[in-house]
Amino acid sequence: MLKKIAILFSGNGSNMEQIIKTLHGKTHNKLQVEVVLAICNKPNAYGLERLKKYPIKTLVINHKDYKKKEDFDEQLVKNIKQSGADLSVLAGFMRILTPVFTNSLEAVNIHPSILPLFKGANAIQESYNSGMLLGGVSVHMVTNELDSGRLVAQKTFAKHPKMSLEDFENKIHKIEHEIYPKAILKILKNQVTKSNI
Ligand code: GRF
Repeated sequence: MLKKIAILFSGNGSNMEQIIKTLHGKTHNKLQVEVVLAICNKPNAYGLERLKKYPIKTLVINHKDYKKKEDFDEQLVKNIKQSGADLSVLAGFMRILTPVFTNSLEAVNIHPSILPLFKGANAIQESYNSGMLLGGVSVHMVTNELDSGRLVAQKTFAKHPKMSLEDFENKIHKIEHEIYPKAILKILKNQVTKSNI
């Protein structure tokens, strides 16, 4: 069974590259995954450099070219539907999506905290500064509400007293790279099961 994914990102693109390396063109338990499209909303994102190594269709859709959020989302939806992707994967995609997107496509996101704690763009800093003894990463389905959909995977780690913010951040990214491809496979396998019913 072949499943296609589209990846959306805005910046560094380390999760995007990890997903490509781990899943693209590979078969996992009879499930073959193809990254059919990568979309970036920032023309200068480093992730675009990373993508040059891979023969993957890439589009830059700059949100600044659209007057309304809905118009930008409509363009995303149009291109993703054209690509035939079964799932949209947000990997550091720093735009809040409107119902134009969320009501049309199934999407998953990764967030650098133990949700529902520390939603929003400053999750790493906020969880580092909190009194919590744990940090963590969450993978969740995307809904109209920011960082709030059904959880697909979570992993935590102990926050040692001597951990610097940089150490904390590195640990988070290491966990992200480990759990995101697995969580994507889990969703795609579930899609296969549903379509067999
Ligand atoms: C990650 O920390 C992810 O959790 C958050 O944005 C960051 C993206 O990093 N949503 P990268 O661009 O994949 O390196």
